[in-house]
Amino acid sequence: MRIAVYGASGFTGSLVVSEARRRGFEPVLVGRNLGRLRKAAEEAGAPNAEVRAAGLDEIREMTEVFADCDAVVNCAGPFTRWGEPVVRAAIAAGRHYVDTSGEQRHIHRMFEQFDSAAKQSAVAIVPGATDDGVPGDLIAHLAAARVPIVRDVLIADLRLPGGVSRGTARSMLAVAGSDRLEYADGDWRPDGGGEFEPIEAPGQTQPASLCAFGLPGVVTIPRHVAAERVRGAIRAEVAILFTGLTEASAEMVPEVVPMQARRDGRWLMLAEVTGADGRRSRGWVTGPDGYGLTAVIAVEAVHRLAEVGAPAGALAPAQAVDPADFLDFLTAAGARWQLSED
Ligand SMILES: NC(=O)c1ccc[n+]([C@@H]2O[C@H](COP(=O)([O-])OP(=O)(O)OC[C@H]3O[C@@H](n4cnc5c(N)ncnc54)[C@H](OP(=O)(O)O)[C@@H]3O)[C@@H](O)[C@H]2O)c1
Repeated sequence: MRIAVYGASGFTGSLVVSEARRRGFEPVLVGRNLGRLRKAAEEAGAPNAEVRAAGLDEIREMTEVFADCDAVVNCAGPFTRWGEPVVRAAIAAGRHYVDTSGEQRHIHRMFEQFDSAAKQSAVAIVPGATDDGVPGDLIAHLAAARVPIVRDVLIADLRLPGGVSRGTARSMLAVAGSDRLEYADGDWRPDGGGEFEPIEAPGQTQPASLCAFGLPGVVTIPRHVAAERVRGAIRAEVAILFTGLTEASAEMVPEVVPMQARRDGRWLMLAEVTGADGRRSRGWVTGPDGYGLTAVIAVEAVHRLAEVGAPAGALAPAQAVDPADFLDFLTAAGARWQLSED
């Protein structure tokens, strides 16, 4: 299987290239600068991998570049700014598409603007194929399936402050000024705020204080869970770090998160589902190395789209893959998951 990796010269892109090679697939490195792509191929241990140049204003060339690949993984963020040309080219080439965006507005736009074009081209597009977007969406689906009538879903990213890449810092800055969304009564609207109860997180000694945050799950979960309301939150201390970013401080963040920091960090997604009868169902997924896991998720997602198949259109993770089977697959990369009821 040939996988076109757009933005392969970046930190996440090069992890996706390495993971594709590890799986025995053929990565094709695509981006705006051939020199940087060649260097990335060497650093990813794939010096003979094909590199192809196509800038974001060259959609025709990009479409040609994608045409003899089986699928596209887009790692060029901030996606709110740069995401559109790559998905347009993937759809024009008739190729499945996933991206590594954590930007809620971009993910929402993918559903609103590209669903019918993807259906016409008979391809699947799955934005937000990351360590928060996919585990959060899948565990919420499984937790909700245990509740007869779902009233509220809270999706919470409970990771402690830790290593982020410059690309992530730039993306968080790119969405800092935009409204975060909540889902209520059948539609998305700006999150009205309000308090969250501190939440007990598995493996963490103190209850976590939460702040509303524009998580991908808020725009993906309502596509497969019939909830009245879906909100997203992250740890208050992490929210403060993101909201405190400036252009200057984002550019000071190192490009690459060192391997030790990746191994030491733990990502943790928790879904809490409250039924109409007040009973609660919970699920959580956790593991080390969020960036490495993002590469594992993106590569396995395009593998399943291309080889197992999925409906055409813009899809939430739980619409694109079998939730429990995919979470089980991630255990080989160190993930653990669990469901429980009150
Ligand atoms: N959990 C999550 O939400 C999660 C996890 C992992 C990654 N991500 C996201 O993935 C994205 C990449 O992160 P990263 O750390 O890998 O960033 P990075 O190292 O800065 O890489 C960015 C990539 O995008 C390319 N790019 C940027 N602007 C471009 C433009 N105008 N035209 C063409 N290519 C352009 C860069 O190409 P050049 O080398 O030519 O500059 C580079 O290949 C970020 O948005 C990040 O938030 C999210």
